[in-house]
Amino acid sequence: MNPGLKYLLMKEITITTIIRQCRPDELPSETRQLAKKAIEMVEHAYAPYSGFQVGAAILLSNGKVVGGSNQENAAFPSGMCAERTACYQAGALYPYAAFRRIVIAAGKRNKEGVFELTPQPISPCGACRQALLEYETKGAGPVEVVLYGAETCYVFPSVASLLPYAFTDF
Ligand code: THU
Repeated sequence: MNPGLKYLLMKEITITTIIRQCRPDELPSETRQLAKKAIEMVEHAYAPYSGFQVGAAILLSNGKVVGGSNQENAAFPSGMCAERTACYQAGALYPYAAFRRIVIAAGKRNKEGVFELTPQPISPCGACRQALLEYETKGAGPVEVVLYGAETCYVFPSVASLLPYAFTDF
């Protein structure tokens, strides 16, 4: 049989993620408040090598908000992304609380040297998605992921929706 046809006959699985898109001022007020913390974290980034500053803020089931920013290092792989800095800080400080929502924002200096948030949101790297997914599983409920840009924001209903077919167990 023609190998192309063999694939055509196989069961097809479709992965669907419904992402909401809006302007920052259209986000619910609770999310805007968390976004403020994420933006504060962008300002706290230590990114002397890339000049790209990222911030994240996580809302926990106990009402606490934990932030993180990217922390770079002269030995490049030793640095850490904002999302995982926030995740691990939240996990270490409040081991029994579940993650409810995370807002991620980023920014850099423009040609005139003025710091600006990125107009479009950035998307977390694969390693951060994997780390976030672990906390979503641990917390036994969806963690809303809000990717914040100065002009456009995306809201994902869960970390799993950002990382389908993830490695979850062994
Ligand atoms: N970075 C993050 O902190 N989060 C992301 O989602 C993407 C990238 C950081 C890592 C590095 O310090 C800088 O941004 C440039 O890659």
